[in-house]
Amino acid sequence: MLFHSEEETYNWAVEFGRTLKPGDKVALFGNLGAGKTVISRGVCKGLGFEGAVCSPTYTILHEYPNDPPIFHFDLYRLEGGADLYEVGLDPDYLEKGISLIEWPERIEDNDPGITHKIEIKILSETEREIVVTAL
Ligand SMILES: Nc1ncnc2c1ncn2[C@@H]1O[C@H](COP(=O)(O)OP(=O)(O)OP(=O)(O)O)[C@@H](O)[C@H]1O
Ligand SMILES: [Mg+2]
Repeated sequence: MLFHSEEETYNWAVEFGRTLKPGDKVALFGNLGAGKTVISRGVCKGLGFEGAVCSPTYTILHEYPNDPPIFHFDLYRLEGGADLYEVGLDPDYLEKGISLIEWPERIEDNDPGITHKIEIKILSETEREIVVTAL
């Protein structure tokens, strides 16, 4: 898919968010400023969450109070080899919510059970190519 503005990307993400269900884990691949947080915001909106959504870079994880709960990870600052559970979440609890994972490259061999892969490519200042793979 090709999106020509932040708004187009966001609007698509709202619709995508509506298709997600508890236990889904969305890995968001893309460089700094690609739009991972824009997509996270749209997904949260699509899931009914109206509060603020921002990259949890310094905290690694934000949990948004929603039904289902939303776990927003930003693993940028994580050392290699870590997994989602080291961040402090009980695996059973993680299954009850929807996980959005920025910088999933930081997870090494432990399989976190990713259900959707989103790859964002920056084509120009305002254009993004987005490929979604359901696993
Ligand atoms: N078509 C587009 N889709 C999404 N974002 C766009 C688009 N065009 C421009 N942008 C801009 O790109 C930036 C994307 O920022 P965002 O915080 O979502 O990136 P990120 O991938 O989360 O980066 P980081 O790795 O730093 O967390 C925003 O400033 C947004 O306005
Ligand atoms: Mg971000």
